[in-house]
Amino acid sequence: MSTSGTGIVYRPRRLRTTPRMRRLAAETRLHAADLVLPLFVKEGLAEPAPITSMPGQVQHTEATLRDAVADAARAGLGGVMLFGIPAERDATGTAGDDPDGVLQRGIRVAREAVAEVESETGRPGPVVMADTCLDEFTDHGHCGVLAADGTVDNDATLDRYAAMAVAQARAGAEVVAPSGMMDGQVAVIRDALDDAGFDQVSILAYSAKYASAFYGPFREAVDSALQGDRRTYQMDAANAREGLREADLDLAEGADMVMVKPAGTSLDVLRGVADRSDVPVAAYQVSGEYAMIEAAAANGWIDREGAVLESVTAIKRAGADVVLTYWANEIAEWIK
Ligand code: PBG
Repeated sequence: MSTSGTGIVYRPRRLRTTPRMRRLAAETRLHAADLVLPLFVKEGLAEPAPITSMPGQVQHTEATLRDAVADAARAGLGGVMLFGIPAERDATGTAGDDPDGVLQRGIRVAREAVAEVESETGRPGPVVMADTCLDEFTDHGHCGVLAADGTVDNDATLDRYAAMAVAQARAGAEVVAPSGMMDGQVAVIRDALDDAGFDQVSILAYSAKYASAFYGPFREAVDSALQGDRRTYQMDAANAREGLREADLDLAEGADMVMVKPAGTSLDVLRGVADRSDVPVAAYQVSGEYAMIEAAAANGWIDREGAVLESVTAIKRAGADVVLTYWANEIAEWIK
């Protein structure tokens, strides 16, 4: 039993001896089709605008969005998640469900780019998804409409989400992704989509979405107007059980996929949701997670590729089937 009298009963290091052995023994693999690239499109831009706090990421024009989606398609990504930044904002986020609004235009452009690359390569391109939320469209920057006392009015917001989801579906979104954490948002959107004839459009529910300091760079990415915080609707980072309950509610309301966000600080919740979900589970590696690694790597303090691959592998290991990450294209290249 023991080896030369050392008392060692088994040597786990045998499976770590060579790259080929480690590859065979790996429990978690990254695949391009599991990755979703978030993309920003801004109305009225002449040139793509770099997002300072997210080096390498830009606000796209419609033309460069088309190129970015085509690149994502050639990289074999599973999806793209689109965010729109309108030229005009108002109290109820009117631009969010305008058929000609920036996000709807972006969705159309993205679908065209996917179709072009699909016909060129003969392979499936990325699923086109859209963020279904009001914060990019309201002048106060909240994810919903405000009541007279200044709080976010849950049920009034649901009507707006329903209208946005239908507008996104009409523009060609294959997945709508409500991210505002309003109670009942999945059920209301499902009804609205079905009534409008879009029973084949899926809902990716941001189920356990925490109020997070790690969304900081995203606020720059969408020129956010928000003063204050989102703590009356997004979850408290102290709570894990509550995240599971949120996911259960979304599943009961008909979510086709559920999401946990931010990914890196919620791996326990992600594991819990993955264990009870019978639909695909997504996790969003958010802007702050991106910015931290980019900043450390730019200073020479961390190995960039190593840190990126390790962070995304950990998210998959914790139970994510799908990972939204700003590094999606680059990762796809590395793991080819
Ligand atoms: C809301 C939304 C946010 C993010 C995705 N959808 C911002 C927020 O909730 O404050 C954050 C994504 C990121 O930080 O990368 N529309």
